[in-house]
Amino acid sequence: MQKIHAAITAVGGYVPDYILTNQELETIVDTTDEWITTRTGIKERHILKGEGKGSSDIAVEAVKELLKKRPDVKPEDIELLICATTTPDMQFPATANIITDKAGLVNAFGYDVNAACSGFLFALNTGAQFITNGTYKKVIVVGVDKMSSILNYEDRTTCIIFGDGGGAVLLEPNDEGNGIIDAILKSDGAGRAHLHQKAGGSAKPASLETVMNKEHYVYQEGQTVFKFAVKNMADVAHQIMERNALTAENVAWLVPHQANKRIIAATSERMGLPDEKVMLNIERYGNTTNGTLPLCLWDYEKQLKKGDNIVLAAFGGGFTWGATYIKWAYDGAKYSLK
Ligand code: UT7
Repeated sequence: MQKIHAAITAVGGYVPDYILTNQELETIVDTTDEWITTRTGIKERHILKGEGKGSSDIAVEAVKELLKKRPDVKPEDIELLICATTTPDMQFPATANIITDKAGLVNAFGYDVNAACSGFLFALNTGAQFITNGTYKKVIVVGVDKMSSILNYEDRTTCIIFGDGGGAVLLEPNDEGNGIIDAILKSDGAGRAHLHQKAGGSAKPASLETVMNKEHYVYQEGQTVFKFAVKNMADVAHQIMERNALTAENVAWLVPHQANKRIIAATSERMGLPDEKVMLNIERYGNTTNGTLPLCLWDYEKQLKKGDNIVLAAFGGGFTWGATYIKWAYDGAKYSLK
């Protein structure tokens, strides 16, 4: 009997309606469309507006769309939902719990995974363990962020990069040899110095002073993070190719974290992949942190074919980074609603 793999069998995604363009940012901070485009590849990002709206509201739309694509799967069939997010609705309870409630997943338990921009990869591989060891048959993994909630719109070095959005995938057992085949996941806590949120956690609880000092916003030393991202994301993607006998010819797609077009180019170059095999939507969404990878799968689902070799790669705060090799399990055109 074939080994059981955890396969992605449906994808849902959502970005909020409001579009924040480079042109609008030019009126908010000292920047230009030309600088943002050439340095990052970003043209616009989506922003979630509305009082009381959080990451869960984005995720619920993605989960609902996923279930719409698979009418044979009822909300009550979902056993577990793992949510990767850096911008939870609240410190507690977990955003996963809020999503399961709002989406009517009455039989699912849930919890959050926090690994910054690599969170979706970490959560995906965590969810996969429950499938391959036979514990569960239907697991949803969400990657979502409302980055606008922790951005300082007076800081031109960070507010131009990030956006809001997220996606969800369904994991089910596969006995045809398709699904998640291999993963390399890494972290180095020393990197936390270069990308973090200074206040609001247990080490420095929020106070009037921390708010006045704007310490509840993203703090990033861009150049340093850039250097680590270029090296580590390219290295790990190359490593997963080598140990699975993957080549530029037999890899169908690279699904890279959308942090900066130049980091993506360095990774695909190292893998020897032509541009047409690289998923890219940073131009429209910016960096949605945990949302980037599922949003790529969502946008490109129609083009994915059963048996395609796909490499996902990410790098983020922590530092965290990793790559995952998936043999795609279905013809995307069958389910894509786009
Ligand atoms: O997803 C999680 C991980 N995060 C990342 O992977 C992000 C990695 N870092 C980056 O993508 C890039 O470092 C940034 C996009 C953040 C910045 O690009 P850069 O090419 O590294 O720019 P820089 O920080 O070296 O700044 C170059 C210049 C500076 O001016 P001077 O000192 O040369 O006069 C900045 O002050 O660009 C200036 N600058 C800007 N100018 C116009 C910085 N931000 C802006 C801006 N508009 N928005």
